[in-house]
Amino acid sequence: MPEKPRLLITRRLRDAVQARAARDYQVLTNDEDRVFTRDELIEKCQHVDAVLPCHSEHFSAEVIAALPERLRIIANHSVGVDHVDLSAARDAGIVVTNTPDVLSDATAEIAMLCMLGAARRGAEGDAMVRAGKWDFWSPAFMVGRQVTGKRFGVLGMGRVGQVAAERARGFGMTVHYHNRQPVPDHLAKGAIYHDTIEGLFANSDVLSLHCPSTPETTGIINARTIGLLPDRAILVNTARGNLVDEDALVDALESGKLFAAGLDVFRSEPGGNQRISALKNVFLLPHIGSATEETRDAMGYRALDNLDAYFSGREPGDRVA
Ligand code: DGY
Repeated sequence: MPEKPRLLITRRLRDAVQARAARDYQVLTNDEDRVFTRDELIEKCQHVDAVLPCHSEHFSAEVIAALPERLRIIANHSVGVDHVDLSAARDAGIVVTNTPDVLSDATAEIAMLCMLGAARRGAEGDAMVRAGKWDFWSPAFMVGRQVTGKRFGVLGMGRVGQVAAERARGFGMTVHYHNRQPVPDHLAKGAIYHDTIEGLFANSDVLSLHCPSTPETTGIINARTIGLLPDRAILVNTARGNLVDEDALVDALESGKLFAAGLDVFRSEPGGNQRISALKNVFLLPHIGSATEETRDAMGYRALDNLDAYFSGREPGDRVA
């Protein structure tokens, strides 16, 4: 019987996923579940044929150049692949895969939580009750913005954007979107296409970000583009922190240009941005868009499916490089 391939799993995965991995691979795990330093990551990779990382491990061109010949595939446990230098991986002949589809529902749920938390002042109310500071009620107390009947703008109408649009329709919202290309009618389901971000932003009472992080989208939310939004709009970000110029966001939240923001992702993670955390009109989460039992199982299995395909000589279904 041929030796099982050696696989480095960089973070702790769900038990059932770890068990399947251990059945089919010689697995090196990270039982402490600590983020490896760059040097540790390179060192651990020296002994394996494959690596199953999360978005917390950065495979820069420099790291990829230091990987051993034997390491042939990076099977990510994430849909986002901005932590991997894809062109360096291609040049090195390393296959890269991701885990699309399986996290769309979970992430769209978090987008709705962020939207409602921001619109209805969820964090402020929760903090007040917990701190024992809820000592007043009146019709003028804690008044937020209702989303029913408002316009839900989707920047990036891919898989997650489409599910978020569907959920927003459930709140009686009209969906507008911008994408490089319009999506087919059966996926758009009546959503109104704008061929520029200017068009979309002018029509978004809530703007929800669902585009990948690329050099073109970095800082796409900045002082100029926030200025295109209707006054007192709400920003929702469940995609990647670097889509947003966080100083411009703070300015807009302080000035009242934006009513509120609901954010699951930040430029600096873990930790977030203390200027944002100091504001009242934000609803903040620690990058948990895909953190459900069902989705984390599905992401793990999907990453293993890609590895299984590669090691049995088939094309992995989710190859991105
Ligand atoms: C993803 O899959 O990209 C999520 O952000 C979790 O890593």
